[in-house]
Amino acid sequence: DKDLDATARDILVSNDRGGYTIPTKGLYPFQWNWDSAFAAWGFSTFDADRAWTELETLFSAQWDSGMVPHIVFHKEDDGYFPGPEVWGTGTSPATSGISQPPVAAILARLIHDRVGGTDRLRALYPKLLAWHRWWRECRTVHGVACITHPWESGRDNCPDWDPGMANVDGSDVGAYQRRDTGHVDAAMRPGKDDYDRYLAMVQFGRACGWDQATIRDDGPFLMGDPAISFILIRANRDLAAMAATLGEDGSEPALWADEMEAALPWLWNADLQAYAARDARTGRFASNISSGAALALLAGVENAAMEAKLAEMWDRVTYGIPSNDPAAAGFEPRRYWRGPTWPVVNALIAVGLADAGRHEDEARLRRETAALIRQGGFFEYFDPLDGTACGGDRFTWTAAIWLAWAN
Ligand code: DGY
Repeated sequence: DKDLDATARDILVSNDRGGYTIPTKGLYPFQWNWDSAFAAWGFSTFDADRAWTELETLFSAQWDSGMVPHIVFHKEDDGYFPGPEVWGTGTSPATSGISQPPVAAILARLIHDRVGGTDRLRALYPKLLAWHRWWRECRTVHGVACITHPWESGRDNCPDWDPGMANVDGSDVGAYQRRDTGHVDAAMRPGKDDYDRYLAMVQFGRACGWDQATIRDDGPFLMGDPAISFILIRANRDLAAMAATLGEDGSEPALWADEMEAALPWLWNADLQAYAARDARTGRFASNISSGAALALLAGVENAAMEAKLAEMWDRVTYGIPSNDPAAAGFEPRRYWRGPTWPVVNALIAVGLADAGRHEDEARLRRETAALIRQGGFFEYFDPLDGTACGGDRFTWTAAIWLAWAN
């Protein structure tokens, strides 16, 4: 695999725009929040300094409120829509107005374990803590992490969000031109109905000056996200562990993790026998099992009934954990988050499997993920049934997880 290792490193280096890494040329020409955290993990396998820099650049765009935005528009590029003029956040650097899954603390800890860098971690710690506090103050409803836009989940068009999307009116957003479908096959991307609604949510945020309490309380969309809830539980425990390393008091993030874990029953869908996304306004559950549920492992949340369901879902495919259950009505094996398997999510699940001592499952997930990359290249996501490579090519986070985990 020496050649693949070299290609993966080359992808990270060639997607480097100077202190930050774009996810892929063309489709995503700026810095994306959770993509960058994975990029840092990948860099840590061959360039420790560059790994820390990636996270530092991301946090240099942190808002005063503690929010770390989902996109940082460091340099202009008209190949992406919606760009900074649509978001209109008025920040410098220009950013989007929503966040993305808070994986940075999890990966910062793994990076520190791998390459050290305690001084860099020490400088980052209060910023991570401030971001997690923002999640608690601005995105926690019913005790769990809620998202105000599907883009905030990072799992954009997953059927998880269908109940909330049904209540969003996208009929009045005006004319616009998508750019994503100029880079990637439209059949692998969200549909127009989705995009109209995505824009309606952006327009609401902009109209209220990105006031996060207004967006949470009165915005068009608010759904409990099992994936982010699990990620945040894990990330807060990682912060508490970092605090111990740094000689800080980690009792606050430890408490946040315990409180969110105690609130998880609100996301339990008894019909599915699994944790599932749930509309925070109407109480309606998503009707599918998704890879979001499998991230329970990352949080060390164990549940035998759900494990059995997840095992059945995994056995329905050949490659990796699918983003949506093939047995569910809305399964589309190549459409973004409605079915494909995502190497980066597999890597997060694998971290949880390894911690739980489930080494055979971890090895299987690694084998299946590595096979996709060997056969198809470093693509964004893959058809979990036949392994077809989908979305963007030379993708930063796929290269990163190859180096840090799958190789
Ligand atoms: C996109 O543009 O598809 C991104 O996923 C938004 O973050």
